Amino acid sequence: MKKVLIAYDSRTGNTEKMAELIAEGVRISGQEAELMKISEIKNDKALQGYDAYMFGSPTYHRDMTGGMKTFLFLVQKAGLGGKIGGAFGSHTHSGDAPGLIFDTMQYVFKMKMTSLGSFNMKEDVITTGEGIRACQDYGKAIAEEASQ
Ligand SMILES: Cc1cc2nc3c(=O)[nH]c(=O)nc-3n(C[C@H](O)[C@H](O)[C@H](O)COP(=O)(O)O)c2cc1C
Repeated sequence: MKKVLIAYDSRTGNTEKMAELIAEGVRISGQEAELMKISEIKNDKALQGYDAYMFGSPTYHRDMTGGMKTFLFLVQKAGLGGKIGGAFGSHTHSGDAPGLIFDTMQYVFKMKMTSLGSFNMKEDVITTGEGIRACQDYGKAIAEEASQ
């Protein structure tokens, strides 16, 4: 069984909900998903031992959160080159954070990023049938890429 880490930041719970639904998708695919708030991850050792990584942040002021910026410096120390990756987040209008995180994972950490690209969802869609399915599908796709 492949292990997927889903690490996220969320101020009002929307990106957290996405993370939970993405984890469901991973589990539906028969792989193991571990959910963690980035504030719980204290050192780069905690990032070892996974086959795929998905990082989530909402967009505030057209940027990822300050917590996610600090977290990405920790990720750099973990040396995740070649690992499968994805990035996601909730927003209302511009949704910049997932793309910024995705690019860092791809170009700086040299991770093998999902062909789906980054995953942005408007906050009012997350708990609709369409939103739930789309989040689960993102989790399923990464789980399948990890198991190839
Ligand atoms: C002060 C403030 C600034 C925001 N800036 C943006 C923004 O630049 N672009 C955007 O798409 N959404 C923006 N949002 C909306 C949030 O991204 C949205 O509410 C998101 O669902 C919050 O996710 P969370 O519940 O995981 O924290 C902003 C919200 C607040 C309160």
